[in-house]
Amino acid sequence: MAELDVIRSRALSELAAADSQQALDAWRASYLGRQGAVTQVLRTLGSLPAEERPKIGAGANALRRELEEALDARERDVKAAAMAALESGSIDVSLPGRRGLTGRLHPITQTIRDMLAALGEMGFQVAEGPEVEWEYYNFDALRIPEHHPSRDTQDTFWVDHAADGRRVLLRTQTSPNQVRFMETHKPPIRVAVPGRVYRYEATDATHEWMFNQIELLAVDEGINMSHMKGTLTQMAQALFGQDRPVRFRCHYFPFVEPGAEVDIQCDLCKGEGCRSCGNEGWLEIAGAGMVHREILENVGYDADRYTGFAAGFGVERIAMLRHSIDDIRHFFTNDLRFLRQF
Ligand code: DAH
Repeated sequence: MAELDVIRSRALSELAAADSQQALDAWRASYLGRQGAVTQVLRTLGSLPAEERPKIGAGANALRRELEEALDARERDVKAAAMAALESGSIDVSLPGRRGLTGRLHPITQTIRDMLAALGEMGFQVAEGPEVEWEYYNFDALRIPEHHPSRDTQDTFWVDHAADGRRVLLRTQTSPNQVRFMETHKPPIRVAVPGRVYRYEATDATHEWMFNQIELLAVDEGINMSHMKGTLTQMAQALFGQDRPVRFRCHYFPFVEPGAEVDIQCDLCKGEGCRSCGNEGWLEIAGAGMVHREILENVGYDADRYTGFAAGFGVERIAMLRHSIDDIRHFFTNDLRFLRQF
């Protein structure tokens, strides 16, 4: 009986000090749980002399009930104290919660999607082609033979693999998809092909060894240069605003004739010439031209009946111009301070 008194006074004083649900749970385990002190006394009744058992058994059961009631009461007090703490403002329940992290689209992905959306409105479907490409599609089929000087403008990553003497490379442009698409489709064609291209060159603020292009191809009866100018002007103005002047400037590309470069007017100087446009007054956004007759013939089209135009846009360049980004390398260094701005 003396031992029960000791358990009782120790239990009640510890209970008074327990001030959290966690402490109350631990207390319950150490007195009333399966290994708890009161439970242990009840378990050892069998080893006591028979005349002591009823008294000690009744005492232990009474103590168990007393402690259970004390625990209930204490639990109510602890909960009430926690509520009072909330209400008294030591925790400001009106503070905004912590915002979860959400992902976002890379600025290049956003630009590609904007461009394809503008093209989709004009009836262009989207197709894709391989990044690891045959030399034939990347160069020869586009009238860029080996040793031709125009190959020098696109230094190439060669892939260490060849089949039947056909060489393999990382495509330097999306233009091979003009030929690939025509080989597998009949006119009328309106197709846009986005994709990564690779060039073996040193990186600087305006050059990367990997970047994105979107290739455009339209082939049909009666397609002429005014269709090309109309389509590319609408595209440029969808990206840079309805009032932005666009110009076409003669330029040589082996796979088109005639060929052109497409410029938008520099928004800072309005064509006057300033530092941001290299004193040109204009900024180049694409190459374009009328598909060369030989290319139409090589894919088996009747070049007297069908004509077409093609264009290639540089996606990074367009994203840089739209967002005033001064260094192409920002796109690929994964600095979240940069990426979170888009
Ligand atoms: N493929 C060319 C380049 O990467 C760009 C280009 C120019 C694409 C004229 C075209 C085109 O479709 O007609 O420099």
